[in-house]
Amino acid sequence: MTALERRPRLAVDLRKRPRRLRSSPAMRSLVREHDVRLSALVQPLFVVDPGQATGEIASMPGIERYAVDDAVRECRELAALGIRAVLLFGIPDHKDAYASSAHDPAGVVQRAIIAIKAGVPDMLVIADLCNCEYTDHGHCGILDERGDVDNDATLDLLGRTALSYAMAGVDVVAPSDMMDGRVAYLRETLDASDFTSIPIMSYAVKFASAFYGPFRDAADSTPQFGDRRSYQMDPPNEREALREAMLDLDEGADFLIVKPALAYMDLIRAVREVSDVPVACYNVSGEYAMVKAAAQNGWIDEARIVDEMLTGFVRAGADIVITYFAKSYARRLRARG
Ligand code: PBG
Repeated sequence: MTALERRPRLAVDLRKRPRRLRSSPAMRSLVREHDVRLSALVQPLFVVDPGQATGEIASMPGIERYAVDDAVRECRELAALGIRAVLLFGIPDHKDAYASSAHDPAGVVQRAIIAIKAGVPDMLVIADLCNCEYTDHGHCGILDERGDVDNDATLDLLGRTALSYAMAGVDVVAPSDMMDGRVAYLRETLDASDFTSIPIMSYAVKFASAFYGPFRDAADSTPQFGDRRSYQMDPPNEREALREAMLDLDEGADFLIVKPALAYMDLIRAVREVSDVPVACYNVSGEYAMVKAAAQNGWIDEARIVDEMLTGFVRAGADIVITYFAKSYARRLRARG
């Protein structure tokens, strides 16, 4: 029997064959709809005060905590690989109930901003703006008598910290605390001190998520009691996510972040569709740790998984991807040539 004779008689119309456009690498790249741009990736960096441990984070293999000088060196390496933006998190020597070291002009993030802008001026420095790394109780703001985070008192703290970052020369501030009204408050505070051109990248849609577990090891920011559910969002809620996004747009946010990313791709798309500012997604620590753990066991192919994940975020509508994989991804692109 010839191959032709072996063919089943089909009732389907096979004039249309999508496989024609998958026939070779050149064909596939000709029709490829989305690409991950290196310049759209943001590498998070943990910077520590002198009394804090540096080195690799146990639950995040390949990710380190850096002293300020080493963070500058790291930025130089990132720049050489084509990564143009970093997101700073600080781990201070001193924590208290009022997060005082968050707005210390000589605090760890403030020093890192100054050092990075001096050493690698073209690197875009985004500073995460939150209190949980600076409070002794690990919550994202000042507590009221009931032990809940006091929204309006926390705004004042955020404003002070944002100003100290601005004075240090930060390029973008990224509030991640989830207090109501903080984008408007920060905009007013920055503008009143003539920092009208510093954009606000708002963690507008941020869920109370178990995917932040490894980060809290990295940043020593696990709440000492309770959880963050009275300020971070409840994962099942989509309409509320859009409401948060619209409020932040109204308040003057220049970028919106959706976080976490993998389990929330529908919301990346939904926020993209209702907003006219760039949308970022945050591929968080737990998403990183899961991939690394499976790869170390030989259960998955890390490079292909990461390509697929980053492409998925972009296809879902993310203009910007904040990811711990930024550096390794850039390195791999370079090696492929
Ligand atoms: C600070 C903050 C957190 C993350 C970013 N900013 C932790 C949290 O909200 O508990 C998580 C980032 C990650 O998991 O990679 N509030």
